[in-house]
Amino acid sequence: MIGENCSSGNNAALLLSVIDSIGKGILVFNGKVIYCNSAAEKALGYPAGSLEGKDPSEIFPVDSKLLSSCLFEEIYDCEMGGEFNFQTASGALAALKSEIRSIDFEGRSACMVTFDVSSPADKQVKKLAETEQLFRILTENSFAGIYIYKDKYIYANPEYLSKTGYSMDELKQMSPWELVHEDDRRFVKENVLRRLAGEVFDQKYHERKIITKSGEIRTVRVATNTVMIDGEFAGIGSTIDISDLKQLQDGLEEKVREETLKRYEQEQLLVQQSKLAEMGAMLRSIAHQWKQPLSAVGMLLQDMTRTFSSGGLDKEYIDWVHDTASEQISYMTETVRDFMDFLRPSKERSLFTIEDALWPTLKIFSHQAISHELSIEMKCGLKRDASEEMSVRIKSVSSSNIFVDCENCGRNDVYVEGYRNEFMQVLLNIFNNAKDAIASAKKQGTLTESGRITVRLADLEGRISIDIEDNGGGIPEELIKKIFDPYFTTKSSEQGSGIGLYMVRAIVENNMGGEVRVRNGKAGAVFSIILDRHMKSTSAAGSC
Ligand SMILES: Nc1ncnc2c1ncn2[C@@H]1O[C@H](COP(=O)(O)OP(=O)(O)O)[C@@H](O)[C@H]1O
Ligand SMILES: [Mg+2]
Repeated sequence: MIGENCSSGNNAALLLSVIDSIGKGILVFNGKVIYCNSAAEKALGYPAGSLEGKDPSEIFPVDSKLLSSCLFEEIYDCEMGGEFNFQTASGALAALKSEIRSIDFEGRSACMVTFDVSSPADKQVKKLAETEQLFRILTENSFAGIYIYKDKYIYANPEYLSKTGYSMDELKQMSPWELVHEDDRRFVKENVLRRLAGEVFDQKYHERKIITKSGEIRTVRVATNTVMIDGEFAGIGSTIDISDLKQLQDGLEEKVREETLKRYEQEQLLVQQSKLAEMGAMLRSIAHQWKQPLSAVGMLLQDMTRTFSSGGLDKEYIDWVHDTASEQISYMTETVRDFMDFLRPSKERSLFTIEDALWPTLKIFSHQAISHELSIEMKCGLKRDASEEMSVRIKSVSSSNIFVDCENCGRNDVYVEGYRNEFMQVLLNIFNNAKDAIASAKKQGTLTESGRITVRLADLEGRISIDIEDNGGGIPEELIKKIFDPYFTTKSSEQGSGIGLYMVRAIVENNMGGEVRVRNGKAGAVFSIILDRHMKSTSAAGSC
């Protein structure tokens, strides 16, 4: 009917001008737009004569279900009204008050849509145009690269185009994962496909590498999400280029690694320095300790010469000389072996008992203890299977012998973890400091009784505490905070290096996860080493 009117004669022209002047937009569809009036073209932003022949899907978004069902299927007696979404020529959406009815067109049903082009629909189109303009201002001036894709890119803002180096036309031929570096490509492709399948999940600020058109690799931080465009699922992404930051960060990390290594090497050097410093004094006392066995062996040789001259060199005499000399030599060998053991760094972290470290340290220190007339007392308050109390007394019975008395030593099942030789160094540092403090107090006349070092082992809320107390007068309160600083010493340059306690803290706190505390007791300083207690299931029965 319309077609007839459109196609012929003056009547048709008259009719059309009437239709145009009624102030409503009119569209007639039958698969395609087969008629529209100029009000409809104007309202939807199409140039005159360009709307006819268009596919309805270009004018009505697919998600306007009512309308689409009315348009795309054979319809009879359709009559409905309400607000429906129209898509203008610029792609903006406008909700316009409309009426739809089916009409008869050349024996087939067609659909006629009349819609309001006056306000408020007019305003709405304008508003949408403004919104679109705002969207463009926003995205086109954004510092973030923004893109929208379906299976290929459908939109990218200028920032994204400039960062990737591609034109919009080129991107329209590309899937979003194509410019992603192969390290991240699989992950990105999986996510893109999940979004296109309609899965909604937030992905904020993950990093990925992209390859620009010129082949440059850039690192970007991306936030993506799933959106709906024209009734289909799509993905949107917003990217910030962080390549410069990343470079800076990588550089910093490298620097930190280098510095850490340097520091570690310096600390290793310090460990060795401090070991040697502590050993210096000790070696002097070994030399002293060797005097006696050496002179004993010398006297044996003299005696042998004399006995030979007097003809008394028989088997019994030779055996006696052999046994006596061997005893002296094995004492000397043992002393050296103890020192060599101590100097060798421990190779592996291991579980060891306090006594495993304490006893050899005391053995080495005993030479010093003897020459400084010190007594060392050990009290064990650790809860063990067999006994609650253990006491080890080390006292000199002669100038070349140390007598160790171990009483009530129960099952040896209290372990700590770390490097045993380093821990021996810790103990030796503290013993040496105690010995120095006692010697200086004696020299100054503030200590008149004999020097004493007491070692106490105790349980401390599931941990072990080893207290080492002396009677050397203590540390002046104003210095107590400084004594762990590297190179802090109150001794002469020959006597002190100031690295002993620094190493004590580094070994206990960094390598063994423990703690070192210091306070002044009644007669001198008290150093406490607190360590985690470990149990060994196959504990060996041991003695001190
Ligand atoms: N048992 C102690 N009694 C008194 N002062 C101590 C004791 N232990 C350490 N100090 C003080 O702490 C300082 C630092 O000790 P340390 O780091 O071992 O270096 P060094 O023994 O080479 O001086 C010592 O010089 C001394 O003043
Ligand atoms: Mg010291």
